Amino acid sequence: MALHSLRGFRDILPPDSARFAAIEAAAREVFALYGYQELRIPTIELKELFVKSTGETTDIVEKEMYAFTDGGGREVAVRPEGTPGVVRAYIEQNINQSGRNAKFFYIGNMFRAERPQAGRFREFEQIGAEHIGNASPLADAESITMLVRLLERAGLTDCSVDLNSLGCGECRKNYRQTLLAYLRGCSERLCEPCRGRIERNPLRALDCKIDGPWLAGSAPKLTLCPDCAEHFARVQELLKISGVPHNVNPGLVRGLDYYTRTVFEVRSSALGSQDAVCGGGRYDDLVKSMGGPAAPAIGWALGVDRLAMLLKDKPAPDCSTRAFVVAAGKEAASKAYALLSALRAAGISADFSNFDLSLRSQMRSADKSGAFYALILGEDEMRDGTVAVKPLKEAGEQTLVPFDSVPSTLKQLLKV
Ligand code: HAM
Repeated sequence: MALHSLRGFRDILPPDSARFAAIEAAAREVFALYGYQELRIPTIELKELFVKSTGETTDIVEKEMYAFTDGGGREVAVRPEGTPGVVRAYIEQNINQSGRNAKFFYIGNMFRAERPQAGRFREFEQIGAEHIGNASPLADAESITMLVRLLERAGLTDCSVDLNSLGCGECRKNYRQTLLAYLRGCSERLCEPCRGRIERNPLRALDCKIDGPWLAGSAPKLTLCPDCAEHFARVQELLKISGVPHNVNPGLVRGLDYYTRTVFEVRSSALGSQDAVCGGGRYDDLVKSMGGPAAPAIGWALGVDRLAMLLKDKPAPDCSTRAFVVAAGKEAASKAYALLSALRAAGISADFSNFDLSLRSQMRSADKSGAFYALILGEDEMRDGTVAVKPLKEAGEQTLVPFDSVPSTLKQLLKV
C-alpha cells in the first residue's frame, strides 16, 4: 500500500504555500513597526510546562497533546501552542534583567490531536505575539491594534474583534464560588466532561462547545472589581482612538487557563464552525506562577491555515519565474545552462524543463510555467550567437538578441 500522510496532517502545495509565505511576510513587516522581535522556541518541551501553563483541565492538555516518554525517560510533549515556550524562555534566559522591552513574535507549527474537520488540523501554523512586563491597558490596545493591522495587511479587511474581561484573581475568586454553586444545581444538564471538572475548574464549562452556548444565557455573570473595570474601559477607549472596531462579548471566556483581564478573538463566519482566526489575552499571573518574576503580559496567536482559507478568493502571490529557457541539443544545453546562470546572477528568476526533450514539448512547459518570456536557443540561434526572446503573456513579436545582451535586455523589458 502506498504511504500516505496522517489524518489532520497535510501537504501545502503552491499556490497555497505562497499564501502562507505572504502572510508571514506581512506579519514580519508589521511586527517590525511595533518593535517586536523574533523568538524561536523549541518544538518539543517538557510535558509539565504545558500542564502547568496551558492548564491541567483544558481540552488541549487533557485530550489533545502529543505527549510521550523519550529515550531518556523524560515526559515530553510536542508544543500545542507557543505561549508556554515563550514564558519558559523569558524566565530561563533572564530576559527581564536585560533591560530591553520583552516584545516577541514567533512563527511556527503547533500540534493538537483534535478531531480534524474544515479549518481544524492536527498540525497547523500559528503566528504569535507576546508582550511581557507591561500591565498598562496601552499594551492591550497596542497588541490588539497590531493584530488588526496585520490582518489588514495580509488582505483580510472588515474584521472585528470580540472583547471581554475575565477580571483578576480576586474578581474570579468570588465568581468561582457563585458559578460553582450554580453549576452544581444544574449538573444533570451538563455534558460528561464538564460534570467531571466543574469542581476543579468551573469556568471551563463556560467555554465548553456543548454547554457554553446555553450557559452563556443563564449562568451568573462575572462582576469586575473597580481596577479591572477601569482597565477594561480604558482598553476600549484606546481601541476607539486607534480606530479598531470591536464589540464586547460577555460570553467570551477562551479555552486556556492562564488568562486574566482582557481576552479577545477575531472570528469569521466564512470559516464555518471553526470560526476563530485569532485569539489572545492578558496573562498577568502566568510568569510568576511558572517560577519567574512578577511580569504581567499580553499576547495572541493567529491561525495561518484559517487566515489562508479566508484569503483563498484573492489572487495568490505570483511566484512564477520571469524567464523560461528552451534549448535543443547537447551544445545548446551547455549554452542554455550558462544563460540560466547569467540571468540569475543579474537577479532575474529563470527556469527550464528538460533540454533532452523536443523544443515543442519544452515550449509547452514554458507556456504553463507562468513565465513572462521564453528564451529559445535553437539551431539558428546557436549558429548566429543569439537568443530568441518570445513574450508569453502578451502578444508581441519574437526578437533576436545577442547572447551576452540577454540579461540586460530582459531587465529593460521586465522593468527590474
Ligand atoms: P488558541 O485560541 O488556542 O490560542 O489558538 C489561536 C489560534 O490558532 C486560533 O484562533 C486558530 O486560528 C488557530 N488554531 C488553534 N487550533 C487549531 C487547529 N486545530 N487547526 C487550525 N488552527 C488552529 C493560543 O494558542 C494562545 N497561545 C494565544 C495566546 C498567545 N494567548 C496569549 N498569547
